[in-house]
Order: sequence, then structure tokens, then C-alpha cells
Amino acid sequence: MTSYADFYRQSIDQPDAFWASQAKLIDWHRPFDRVCNYDNPPFVSWFEGGQTSLCHNAVDRHLADRADQAALIAISSETGTEKTYTFKELLVEVQRMAASLKALGVAKGDRVLIYMPMIAEAAFAMLACARIGAIHCVVFGGFASGSLASRIDDATPKVIVSADAGSRGGKVVAYKPLLDEALRLSSHQPEAVLLADRKLAPMALVAGRDHLWTDLHEQHCDAQVPCEWLDSTAISYTIYTSGTTGKPKGVQRDTGGYAVALAASMKHIFDGRAGETYFSTSDIGWVVGHSYIVYGPLIAGMATIMYEGLPTQGMDGRPNGGIWWSLVEKYRVTAMFSAPTAVRVLKKQDPALLKKYDLSSLRALFLAGEPLDEPTARWISEGLNVPIIDNYWQTESGWPILTIANGVEKKPSKFGSPGVPMYGYNVKLLHESTGEELTRPGEKGVVVLEGPTPPGFMQTIWKGDDRFVETYWKTVPGRMVYSTFDWGIRDADGYYFILGRTDDVINVAGHRLGTREIEESISGHPQVAEVAVVGMADALKGQVAMAFVVLKDAALTQDSAASLRLEGEIMKRVDTDLGAVARPARVRFVTALPKTRSGKLLRRAIQAVCEGRDAGDLTTMDDPAALQQIRDRVATV
Ligand code: PRX
Repeated sequence: MTSYADFYRQSIDQPDAFWASQAKLIDWHRPFDRVCNYDNPPFVSWFEGGQTSLCHNAVDRHLADRADQAALIAISSETGTEKTYTFKELLVEVQRMAASLKALGVAKGDRVLIYMPMIAEAAFAMLACARIGAIHCVVFGGFASGSLASRIDDATPKVIVSADAGSRGGKVVAYKPLLDEALRLSSHQPEAVLLADRKLAPMALVAGRDHLWTDLHEQHCDAQVPCEWLDSTAISYTIYTSGTTGKPKGVQRDTGGYAVALAASMKHIFDGRAGETYFSTSDIGWVVGHSYIVYGPLIAGMATIMYEGLPTQGMDGRPNGGIWWSLVEKYRVTAMFSAPTAVRVLKKQDPALLKKYDLSSLRALFLAGEPLDEPTARWISEGLNVPIIDNYWQTESGWPILTIANGVEKKPSKFGSPGVPMYGYNVKLLHESTGEELTRPGEKGVVVLEGPTPPGFMQTIWKGDDRFVETYWKTVPGRMVYSTFDWGIRDADGYYFILGRTDDVINVAGHRLGTREIEESISGHPQVAEVAVVGMADALKGQVAMAFVVLKDAALTQDSAASLRLEGEIMKRVDTDLGAVARPARVRFVTALPKTRSGKLLRRAIQAVCEGRDAGDLTTMDDPAALQQIRDRVATV
């Protein structure tokens, strides 16, 4: 077995040789003639000249060896349904969906926006887009009309695929009215809307625009739609993520590089083997759902579980904290992927539930998306008796940046650290203001990547090459490096520890949210003059959003009945604009916000005060009483 150190060094020192060899893990219709083109940094193209297809690699190519093996297992504890599609059946469904999209006018390069709950049709739609060369833009189903509208306007989809409803904790969430409202708010209008009808909520169809999936499905029942071979550099999808500004960024990914990156990660990091079952508890609306519910496991020839529902609800809809473990037992899951928040929720359940099921098939549990605290890691590692593998990455990267590659060489994990840099990632720690590289163990700096970024990494921001360069590559003085916007330190053994974001992004229960987006929604309330939203540490969710609001009528600040009413109104507003995921845990009213003399909001000071920490250097603060007010208000939380 190669040592991981050698494997990593080759990826950095001889990227062409390294990635040419990884590229053998997928099928190519036409071989590439150049591995890495980094002539125009920071833009990088992988496998130029090559042609391939994500859909072929995820579905068609497995028909020879495993046509009748499970490919997609769609389980909903919300509706009590469970259905397995073999690779052969998946191919039939994907072709029906591909034919339906084509019938609605979708052609290569067109965008298809997917706004769906965790049902099999969502995966069919993604794979169908990949099959015909359309670009999918999946929007998380937990987002509401305002967020959806801004994404519709940015992506300008030809077709939107949606459903009547999702369901959460036994409560039906009607999607169609949210979509209709989004289409009322957006200036772009799609030519058609394709709807899956689960019969959970009534749907009003717009004649000429809205089509039922069941109707098209029937018309295209036996459709044969060959895979469109795409250039390796062709766009496979965009996925929106938050940053410092209120405007979400469409992270754009290629085809060939992504397929190779996923195939390589399934082998070297997740150790997933064809014929086995993979269970990721994420959502297709997030990057983890793209990479490790849909594409990664299928490319590896594994069955993948798509799960709709809470971790604490049984198939009969009644409370059951053992549901996930029962699925591991039933489907002989070998690799599971979840988020620390989910484990913290499960930690509150009866520990006997972990012993009730036969979990002997499981080889590892991967956790990502937010910091993994030691008590949670210890609890689950003792309960499951398998390695718990923390992995650090981002929507932008598409696959892990820091973790342990046990598929290359078994290495110990360290509590509190996601691990070491993955092959292909030239990770550095830089001093925040001088840009100087920090090499001594324990020094805190910004985690950055030196280009070229590896295959699978974002190509650019959709319709925003300049924004891509400005946002990510120009933050450190005098150096063109990609900033992750995370603080980190490295120990003497080369293990990294992530210490939180350097920007205004917060992480609520593993969901990445921009505080600016929440502020913009709150500012829309007619009584609000000013607002600051910060993330505050929370034992269960990692962080929660706290909103501090200055009202136009200062007198109301002292009126507790009015404050209560306004808090409710503001929360409702965020619910309808962005969705309940973005709703602040608390809204507190103050008469002024702490700012510097030049008028810049002192967010880090507000956050520190919320968390009971020292507010740091306040010499530039304009009005010390404003921070004191925040302190007083937090004390009443
Ligand atoms: O701050 C880091 C945190 O989540 C951010 C990326 O979130 P998102 O784009 O939603 O991608 C999630 C993909 C797994 C990072 O900038 N983060 C992610 N994983 C970890 C983490 N923080 C600490 N430890 C992690 N393992």
C-alpha cells in the first residue's frame, strides 16, 4: 500500500500524472488530450478534449455488471413509503424524465431548476439533466419564495421541476404555492413547470405552463434517450450558496473533473465498494446531496439511500430514534454520511437504540458541514464502534478538503480535527493581514488553497467570472490564493483544526446561511430602521441566528407587548422570504447598534458579547452604550 504522504506529494508535485491515473476510474467516450490547463489562473480546466457523461457513469455503465442490483432506495418516514430501483429500473426512469424534459423544450446547455423534496423523482431529474446535457440548479426545498425567486432570476431556467409538497415531522409543506409566489416575484418566467403529484396537497395548475409528471411519464414510458456526450469542461450544474453579500452565488461545476473527483473520493476517502449501500442523510438541495447522495455512490456502483424525514421518526410516523439504525441493518449500509447536528439530536435518544440493531455492516460514519465537537464524536464512536470520520469542505470544493483517506492508508483521527489536506489540495495557512505563510504549529491563520484547484472544484461563479476572482482569490494582500473564509490552525503532525468563519456566513444545524440575506429580509419590515444578524453558539445546532433590530419608533423598544408582536412579525417575514431554516432564534430590540466611528457595524464584537466572550479591541467604537444594550438584551434571552 502507498503511504498517504507519497500519494499526496504526487498529487501536488505531478498533478498531470496523478489525475491522469485517477481519470481511469470513470468511462470516457473520447479520451482527453490535456490533463490540467492552468494557463489562465485562477481558472483551471481539467481533462480538455475529453468527452464523458455523469449520467452514463452513474447509471448506464453499471448495467453490464449489476443491472438487477439496487441503485436508488427512496425511503420516506413521512409518508411511510419505501421503494428500491435497480440500476436497470433507474435507467428507465431517467430516460422517461429525460424524454419529458426534451418534450418540454429542454436542450443541451439549458438550465433546469429543481425545487423538490427528497423523493426519487428529484434524483431522476438531476440524472436526466446530466443525460441530455442540461444544467441543473437544485434549490433546497426548505427555502421559501424570496430565495427561490432570486435563484430563478439568476439561473433563468427553461423548465422548473417541482412537486405538490414535502413533509417534515408529519407536517405537510406545500411547495406549489411557494413556487407560484416565487414566479410572481421573479422577472424570469420558465416555459414550463413539471410537477410530481404526491397527493399531499392540492395543486392549482396554470394552463399551458404546468404539466404533471404522471402524464408525461405515461407518454414517454418506453423512451430511449441516449446519453449526450459532453466535453469534460461542460457545465454540469450550478448550486447556490451564501457569502458576505446578500446575493447568493451560483457555484458552477464541470462534468469530467467532477466525475473523476467523485470516483476518486469514493475509493480513497469513503472506501465505498460496488454492490454495497451508502446512506447519506443530507438533502439534494445541498452540495453533500449532489456529491454523496446522487452522483458519488452511483458512480461507484453502490446503492444510495434517499431519506425524507426526521432522524427521530419511524416509518409509521410515530417517534422512533432508531429509524436510521434500522435502515443500516435492513439495507446492510457500509458507509454512512451525516452532520454533527443530527448526531446531537440522536444523542438525546435512548442509548439502547444503538444496540438494538445489527450494525455490523457499517465500516465508518462520515460527518461534515460544521465543527464536530469532541463529546458528540466520542458518544457516537463508542455507540457504533466504527471510525467516525470528520471531513471539512465547502459547496465550492464539491468534495472533502481535509479528512483522513483511509482508502489510501489507514491513519488515526484526532478529536476536534477533520484531518489532513486531501490529495490535490495545496492547503496553506496565511496571516490575515500580511498574507505571510504560517508554518509553525498552533499559529492561527486563514485556510487558503494555492491553485490549481483540483478536479471537481468550482469552475467559477455562474455568469460571474469577475466576481469569482474578486470574491475568492483577492482577499489576501499580494497573493492570488483561494480563501476558504475559515480560520484554522495546524498541529505538529500536520492535522488541521477549523476555528470558524472569517466572514458573515453562519452555520445553523449544518445549513450555511448568509447573515446579510437575513438582514435584508428583516430590513423589509416597515418598522425596522436598522438590523444586525450574527451567529451565536448553540449546544444543539452549532450556531443560531440572533437579530438585533433598531426600530423607526424608538419608543416601541421599551414596550414589551409591541416587542413580542414585532418579534413574531419579523420571524414570519424571514419564514416567507427565505424559509424557516433562516429564521432567527431571537429578535431583540435596541436603540442603536455598535459601530466604528466610520460607521462600520462591529459584528465580531456583537457576536462575542452574545457568546459571553470578551468583545476584543473596541478603541474604534463610536458608542459604547450600544454594545452594553446588546449585553443587557442577551442577558434576557
Ligand atoms: O465553515 C466551514 C463549515 O461549513 C462551511 C461550508 O459549508 P457548505 O458550503 O454548506 O459545505 C458543506 C460541505 C460539507 C465551511 O466553510 N464546515 C464544513 N465542514 C466542516 C466545517 N467546519 C468544521 N468542520 C467541518 N468538518
